[in-house]
Amino acid sequence: MKKLRNFIKSVIKPLRKILTYLIVEPSVLNSHIAKQVWHETNAFRWAAAYAVKNQIEGDYLEFGVWKGNGFIEAYRQITQYSKRFYEVGVKSTGHKNIFKDMRFHAFDSFEGLPETKNVSNPIQYFAGNYSASEEIFWDRISKAGLDTSRVTTTKGWFENSLNDETAERLHLQKIAIVYVDCDVYESTVDVLNFIQPFLSTGSVLIFDDWFRNKGISTEGVQGAVLDWLEKNQNISLQHYYNCDTRTALFIVKIDGIEKNVKIDCV
Ligand SMILES: C[S@@+](CC[C@H](N)C(=O)[O-])C[C@H]1O[C@@H](n2cnc3c(N)ncnc32)[C@H](O)[C@@H]1O
Repeated sequence: MKKLRNFIKSVIKPLRKILTYLIVEPSVLNSHIAKQVWHETNAFRWAAAYAVKNQIEGDYLEFGVWKGNGFIEAYRQITQYSKRFYEVGVKSTGHKNIFKDMRFHAFDSFEGLPETKNVSNPIQYFAGNYSASEEIFWDRISKAGLDTSRVTTTKGWFENSLNDETAERLHLQKIAIVYVDCDVYESTVDVLNFIQPFLSTGSVLIFDDWFRNKGISTEGVQGAVLDWLEKNQNISLQHYYNCDTRTALFIVKIDGIEKNVKIDCV
């Protein structure tokens, strides 16, 4: 009898600990599942952790949203991380919860990729690929439980849609995190020019297609970023993290003292 009681105790005790942990911190379980389901979780996790811990205020912008997978994951990681940090971690410090005022802006043609000139592009970068309607995007983010009152979509080719009127319509002021997932040089140039006035030191840039184009640094996303930095000598990027087979994250520095550092240690 004593043996049985001890055995039950030895099973129940750790079980109770695990259950308590999961009830207090459900995000642990959620993010674990999300990681299994979708391997690209990492980029958003790192961006969210950095932005929350460093109090980087502003909106989340994604250029090239397709059916919304990345958008949903970014929203989840930012909400989970800020919840964990502000509600469990630093509850009493009085720091502002950066998620409270964060809005989530989606930009896409909703007609797939445009034509591109770069010869080194991977085979999947052909005009029209990754086409999904705006309705599919809204439907999927609603079903995923995002607070859609915080979300905006801007439909159109970036060369036409990324302009001052759009920035005004969206009341853009500050950007905390940008996910650039539009694959090709021309689109990335349009994005960088559009976001520039709203970046500040500390903003995080995630480039999904950094390690593409056979390492040719005059083409693809790398080519666009290097050209942009060349034209804007007051901006530099500090390398932060690489994940999966192609993504790189950077932290923006504006008018920094490290004038000569354009891209730091990639
Ligand atoms: C690889 S998909 C994006 C995937 C998405 N971020 C995700 O996580 O599932 C690339 C997207 O970029 C969009 N895109 C690329 N260049 C564009 C441009 N110049 N204007 C508008 N949309 C563009 C395409 O329509 C496509 O939806």
